[in-house]
Amino acid sequence: MFTRKFDRRVYVAVGVFLFSGAVAASFGPYVLWPSNREAGYAPEQPIPFSHAVHAGTLKIDCMYCHTGAETGAQATVPPLSTCMNCHEEVQPVDSRGELKPGIVTLLDHWESRRPLLWNKVSDLADFAYFDHSRHISAGISCQECHGPVEKMDRVRREWGMKMSWCLNCHMQTPPPDSAAAVRGDAMRAPIHCTTCHR
Ligand code: HEC
Ligand code: HEC
Ligand code: HEC
Ligand code: HEC
Ligand code: HEC
Repeated sequence: MFTRKFDRRVYVAVGVFLFSGAVAASFGPYVLWPSNREAGYAPEQPIPFSHAVHAGTLKIDCMYCHTGAETGAQATVPPLSTCMNCHEEVQPVDSRGELKPGIVTLLDHWESRRPLLWNKVSDLADFAYFDHSRHISAGISCQECHGPVEKMDRVRREWGMKMSWCLNCHMQTPPPDSAAAVRGDAMRAPIHCTTCHR
C-alpha cells in the first residue's frame, strides 16, 4: 500500500522508539530515584531513631547494638528487645507530658511483637563479598567507612560504596604498626579480584 521508502522510515521510527523506551526503562530509575549505592542517601526510618542522641550524647557503644560487626560479615541491626532494655523504663515525654511519637511507635511494635522494618542505608551489590570482622580486627574504625554516625540524627551514607572506594583504601601504603606493614606488604589489603569476587 505504501512505498518501500516510507515502510523503511516507519521501521526506523518504531526501532528508535523501542530503543529509547528500553534505555529509559533501564537507566530511568537510577536518574529518578536516589540510589542507596550513592553518597548522601539518607532514607526516612519508621522511628526517628537518633544516633546523635544514643551514640553521641548517651555514648552507648556501637557494639552494644551492632553486635555482629566484630564477629561476622554483617554488623546487624538490633532487635527491639535491645531497645527495651532501656525503654521499658526510659519513656521520654514532650513539653505537654505526652509520650514522644517515636516511643509510642516503639511500644506499639513491642507490645504486638511486630519488628520494625528499618530501611537499609548502606547496601553493597550482592555479588561482592564484604566482611565487617576482617576490617574491625585490622583496626579500622566504623567512622572511616560510615562517617561521623554519632553526630547524625538520621543515618546518611558517607561514601558511594563502589569498587573504586574499596580499592582506594586497599591500595594505600599500610600504616606503620598494621599487620600488613609487619608482614612487609606493599598495600593495606589484597586486591586480587577473588578477594571480593568469589
Ligand atoms: C542504653 C539505653 C538505651 C537504649 C539501648 C536505647 N535507648 Fe532510646 N533513649 C535512651 C535515652 C536515655 C533517651 C533520651 C531520653 C530523653 O531525651 O529524655 C532515648 C531516647 C529515645 C527516643 C526519643 C528521642 C526524641 O527525643 O525524640 C527514641 C525514639 C528512642 N530512644 C528509640 C530507641 C530505639 C528504637 C532503640 C533501639 C534501637 C533505643 N532507643 C535504644 C536510652 C536508650
Ligand atoms: C542503641 C542502639 C544503637 C547504637 C548504640 C548504635 N546504633 Fe547504629 N543503628 C541502630 C539502629 C536501630 C539502626 C537502624 C535504623 C537507622 O538506620 O537509624 C542503625 C543503623 C546504623 C547504620 C546504617 C545501617 C544501614 O542500614 O546501612 C550504621 C552505619 C550504623 N548504625 C552505625 C553505627 C555506629 C558507627 C555506631 C557507634 C558510633 C552506632 N551505629 C551505634 C542502633 C544503634
Ligand atoms: C571497611 C569499611 C567498613 C567498616 C570499617 C565498617 N563498615 Fe559497616 N558496612 C560497610 C559496608 C560495605 C556495608 C554494606 C554491607 C552490605 O550491604 O552487605 C556496611 C553495612 C553496615 C550496617 C548495615 C547492616 C549490615 O551489616 O549490612 C551496619 C549496621 C553497619 N555497617 C555498622 C557498622 C559498625 C557499627 C561498624 C564499626 C564497628 C562498621 N559498620 C564498620 C562497610 C564498613
Ligand atoms: C578504610 C580502608 C578499607 C576500605 C574502605 C575497605 N577495606 Fe577491605 N580491608 C581493609 C584492610 C586493612 C583489610 C585487612 C587486611 C588484613 O587483614 O591484613 C581488609 C580486608 C578485606 C577483605 C579480606 C581480605 C583477605 O585477606 O581475604 C575483604 C574481602 C575486603 N577487605 C573487602 C572489602 C570490600 C568489598 C570493600 C568495599 C565495599 C572494602 N574491603 C573496603 C581496608 C579497607
Ligand atoms: C576490595 C574489593 C574488590 C576487589 C579487589 C575487586 N572488586 Fe570488583 N567490585 C567490588 C565491588 C564492591 C563491586 C560493586 C560495585 C557497585 O555496586 O557499583 C564490584 C564490581 C565489579 C564489577 C561490576 C561492574 C561495576 O563496576 O559495578 C566488575 C566487572 C568487577 N567488579 C571486576 C573486578 C575485577 C576484574 C577485579 C580484579 C582486577 C576486581 N573487580 C577486584 C569490589 C572489588
